[in-house]
Amino acid sequence: MRAENVEPHGPSHDGEAPGVHSANFRFPDGFLWGAATSSHQVEGNCTNNDWWAWEQAGKVHEPSGAACDHYNRYREDFDLARSLGHNAHRFSLEWSRIEPEEGRFSDEALAHYRDVLVALRERGLEPVVTIYHYTLPKWLAERGGWESPQIERLFTRFAARVLDEYADLVRWWITFNEPAVHVFKSYILGQWPPGKSDYPTAFQVVRRMLRAHVLAYHEIHARRKDAMVSVAKHALALTPCNPKSRLDRLSVATRTYLFNHLFLDALHTGALRLPGLFWERLPAGHTLDFVGLNYYTRDFVQNTGLSIPGLIGNICTLEHHQSVGKRNDLGWEIYPEGLAHFLKAYARYRLPILITENGLPVTRDEDRWTFIFLHLWQVARALSEGIPVIGYLHWSLLDNYEWAEGFRGRFGLVEVDYATQKRTVRESALRMADVIRRNEL
Ligand code: FCB
Repeated sequence: MRAENVEPHGPSHDGEAPGVHSANFRFPDGFLWGAATSSHQVEGNCTNNDWWAWEQAGKVHEPSGAACDHYNRYREDFDLARSLGHNAHRFSLEWSRIEPEEGRFSDEALAHYRDVLVALRERGLEPVVTIYHYTLPKWLAERGGWESPQIERLFTRFAARVLDEYADLVRWWITFNEPAVHVFKSYILGQWPPGKSDYPTAFQVVRRMLRAHVLAYHEIHARRKDAMVSVAKHALALTPCNPKSRLDRLSVATRTYLFNHLFLDALHTGALRLPGLFWERLPAGHTLDFVGLNYYTRDFVQNTGLSIPGLIGNICTLEHHQSVGKRNDLGWEIYPEGLAHFLKAYARYRLPILITENGLPVTRDEDRWTFIFLHLWQVARALSEGIPVIGYLHWSLLDNYEWAEGFRGRFGLVEVDYATQKRTVRESALRMADVIRRNEL
């Protein structure tokens, strides 16, 4: 489905057209406002997936344990989202719960996620469902996971099964969360399971994910004609460490293509291209109905040679860029211009753009509000330039388990006290609620 089938620019609540009115900017009517989470990061006790095994093997800062116990507390968490004016919510299905053993689908887990979806609908929250957010069932990881030639079939079967269950309740589907990040962390940096560092394998995984998306896309549309399907594409703003260095600039161009464009380009055109190295047709093109955009920060890139790893280069620790920008608690630079850049860059697909994640880990909540405001400012500007942004989902509703970083980064609109599981709404969430209520910045 293409842009014309959604109406991102409908009239606003009071009949006023979107855009600038006196000092304020109006968002389009029907704009999706909300937050995002993922199963492993909030549910707690996802004991049957590869990430849990990775944690138990002591590979990360701390294990996820009970996380936010959202598996049991989703109703009260959705009450909070609703009280904050949200009208949409993104979450992921935990494959290891739904298919705990190969080919055996758990009635209990399937019923659980139906309850979750009903709870969202009852509260007027449009579900945006991620089918795969980094975690594989253990049985599948043990069989090689994304390296297994079976994975395309197994992923597609899983996607078809969850569509059979939930097509009546869900229109918005994300096949993969941040495929490029997943591949980079898991198969090049080796920081995430399965902890490999091997370029040819990484490339095979990219190929398999692309093909799996295309196959799943058709399974989804076969079961829900008006489905809106995409990936959540992580976009990382990139700048040369030394702007005068031609090699650093070359590394920026290489990384920009591999991280920010290859995946979307391949799904759009139906061909996987590595200029000068590889070209392959996918089973089909045009398998995105919208662009899901995750945006956080900018990195400085340093070339390390002319081989493939050298061209990709290194991320320069921000040490000698100390004068640049402001950082969040995990040291990522706050760089709202990057969001404007990617909204423009991805407008070339002529599809609606949904911001599927944007946020920061920070204990000083005032900084969270400033961050949200500055990024919404960029959204408003993009809209007024005619870019069809259809929603903003903040990462995250709750403080949660930030993968290898553990619980120290506080990403939530709602604070979680992990000792008691008490939730406390942050001031930034109330400020965002005010923007949502007025649909205006
Ligand atoms: C994104 C991931 C999400 C979360 C945020 C902070 O890259 O999609 O799971 O970890 O970063």
